[in-house]
Amino acid sequence: VEYPDLVVVGAGLFGLTVAQQAVEHAGARVHIIDVRDHIGGNAYSYFDEETGAEIHKYGAHLFHTSNRRVWEYVNRFTEFTGYVHRVYATHDGVVYSLPINLGTINQFFRAHYTPAEAQALIEEQAGELAGTDPANLNDKGIQLIGRPLYEAFIKNYTGKQWQTDPAELPASIIKRLPVRFNYDNRYFKDTWEGLPKDGYTKWMERMIDDPRITVSLKTDFFDESQPYNKKALREAGVPVVYTGPVDRYFDYELGDLKWRTVDFKEVRYDEGDHFGCPVMNFSDADVPYTRAIEFKNFNPERREQQNPDKTVVWEEYSRFADRGDEPYYPINTEADKALYAQYEAKAAAEPKTVFGGRLGTYKYYDMHNVIDTALTAYEQQVAPLLAAEAAK
Ligand code: FDA
Repeated sequence: VEYPDLVVVGAGLFGLTVAQQAVEHAGARVHIIDVRDHIGGNAYSYFDEETGAEIHKYGAHLFHTSNRRVWEYVNRFTEFTGYVHRVYATHDGVVYSLPINLGTINQFFRAHYTPAEAQALIEEQAGELAGTDPANLNDKGIQLIGRPLYEAFIKNYTGKQWQTDPAELPASIIKRLPVRFNYDNRYFKDTWEGLPKDGYTKWMERMIDDPRITVSLKTDFFDESQPYNKKALREAGVPVVYTGPVDRYFDYELGDLKWRTVDFKEVRYDEGDHFGCPVMNFSDADVPYTRAIEFKNFNPERREQQNPDKTVVWEEYSRFADRGDEPYYPINTEADKALYAQYEAKAAAEPKTVFGGRLGTYKYYDMHNVIDTALTAYEQQVAPLLAAEAAK
């Protein structure tokens, strides 16, 4: 094969952003490969015929950012709806709004506290363990917001997320638990938010809609029977942007970085709207899943195109990931951080290869973070690499 100027491994938002930039600024020819059968990485979505819902295949994706550079960049490829994210939680047979706010507090305590009264109450309840060094997540939660609210809304939910009793989890997992002493239940505090008007996949297709960008799907970088593999590209000296797992790149030679994954269970209902909201958390231990996503409700502006009699819900079950699972959330223990630092040093020494994205750098990144780091990686790492090759 005749190789292009740049090969991008992974058609997620990191890879697509770098590819788009390489064409726009360097006129490069770029080939993108992905092992999956679609582009978009974890932000990929598809339309469900029966209900008219847009299903986010790898979990609910809400776009939000306060970064002007990122907001202007993404708006080149899609318009956004006016969607504003809000989350509800079922606890002990009652539905509350999250994050914990004055509405949640007054409903929970059946009270009419003012902001100052509610704040005084929470401080008093948190005082139970004031001044102590929390030995585990349970104690930390109590110390942050007091036992009643912690046990109602955080304890069992977190236990399900980690499949571990919070009394056995390290306190370091939670830094803070937001409590709002007003009725603002808007989930994100960012300047801009919304959902791509005609879906995530259309947005991402437009990013690479250029004859200089080609794509091979179902193509594994480590499969030496296909031409865009690690060994062949290295021998040919082709610049590579790699967004797969960094430990996999080095054949796990220093050990595996640890992740959590989520299993999704699809449930269909013969009714137009099951929860009345897009995200319902289940705060108690008797429901085995953490939360349920009702995708139709992310796009109320599409009501006319949706089936009024059917809906689809995905229940989320969280667990530790094995090698064959989708890695979703880095576990990030001190041991993981130390291991990643070793892989990071190896990655930095890898010739003509730029590592990026959530898997390539072992980080939980929201979409806006990934796009921001990709724009920077293009400027600081990829552009100089392409310029050096072009000068040869
Ligand atoms: P991404 O994982 O998207 O892409 C990497 C690609 O590399 C994949 O397509 C993979 O198949 C490919 N690949 C890996 N190994 C390969 C190999 N050997 N050969 C070829 N290809 C290979 N963000 C946000 O802003 N709002 C939100 O609401 C959410 N919600 C959310 C929910 C859940 C459950 C998760 C796990 C994540 C989110 N996110 C999010 C984060 C969001 O998914 C994330 O920021 C981006 O998808 C990351 O894009 P990347 O390109 O870094 O990785």
